[in-house]
Amino acid sequence: MNRWAFVTGADRGVGLSLVKGLLERDYHVLAGQYAEAGDELERLEQLGGGRLKRIPLDIGDEDSVSKALESVAAVTDRLDILINNGAILGDMEATIEDELDFAEMDKVFRVNTLGALRMSNGLIGPILESGSKLIVNISSEAGSIGDCWRTGWYAYSMSKAALNMQSRLIYNQITPKGGKVMVIHPGHVRTYMQGKLDTAGKLTPDESAGYILRLVDQRLDPGYSGEGLALIDYEGNTLPW
Ligand SMILES: NC(=O)c1ccc[n+]([C@@H]2O[C@H](COP(=O)([O-])OP(=O)(O)OC[C@H]3O[C@@H](n4cnc5c(N)ncnc54)[C@H](OP(=O)(O)O)[C@@H]3O)[C@@H](O)[C@H]2O)c1
Repeated sequence: MNRWAFVTGADRGVGLSLVKGLLERDYHVLAGQYAEAGDELERLEQLGGGRLKRIPLDIGDEDSVSKALESVAAVTDRLDILINNGAILGDMEATIEDELDFAEMDKVFRVNTLGALRMSNGLIGPILESGSKLIVNISSEAGSIGDCWRTGWYAYSMSKAALNMQSRLIYNQITPKGGKVMVIHPGHVRTYMQGKLDTAGKLTPDESAGYILRLVDQRLDPGYSGEGLALIDYEGNTLPW
């Protein structure tokens, strides 16, 4: 039987690499395309042998999410894996003693936290109808309260901490129905999230996605005996919530 996966924020970075990795694993992949051009995704679609479908998607916009959900329903009533990957960073400098940009924080929350929730909420039916029933939330070590050392990154850190809580709420609801949730820090990755290539990153997007999909494979193994839900990094190490 065909297996289906959806990745948000799939235009570039870790999201694009997750799409490639899922295609290699024979999934039918629905790729949320945020950028208008979507060049790389378009190229992959042509190579994907009909298993990749690009879906225009701004996870911070209710209408855009509704249209994307209709596009999903048109092709499948089962979704094995939803990967909530799309996110934005916001200001990394301002501390509590500076002027904070609340309008920008609103946007970061709307995308990083509520965007993921909109997608999980809208797709929970097809997810629970599927064989794998897995939601993967790409979080960050920046969302770990226990490990927090920063004095800034307000919007991003708080949005990811809230995503972690969201993951737990979903987990509590869907576990009795066979549902699974993962919350993963993808590592420090060389992407353009900061508006320019982050050359300090330790991993390439392909390496990060490779690690993440290995953890997904382990989670979906029928013999899986690990934790039900934990904030884990790309190597599977548990981080404090
Ligand atoms: N890179 C790291 O070191 C690192 C560390 C910890 C966690 N993460 C997490 O890893 C995930 C992937 O990040 P990345 O490093 O690959 O960054 P990235 O290259 O910027 O990828 C994020 C993707 O999300 C898209 N996006 C932005 N706003 C969106 C919206 N409203 N709706 C849908 N998609 C949207 C971006 O599009 P545009 O490029 O057009 O804006 C981009 O394609 C994120 O959840 C991030 O928080 C990354």
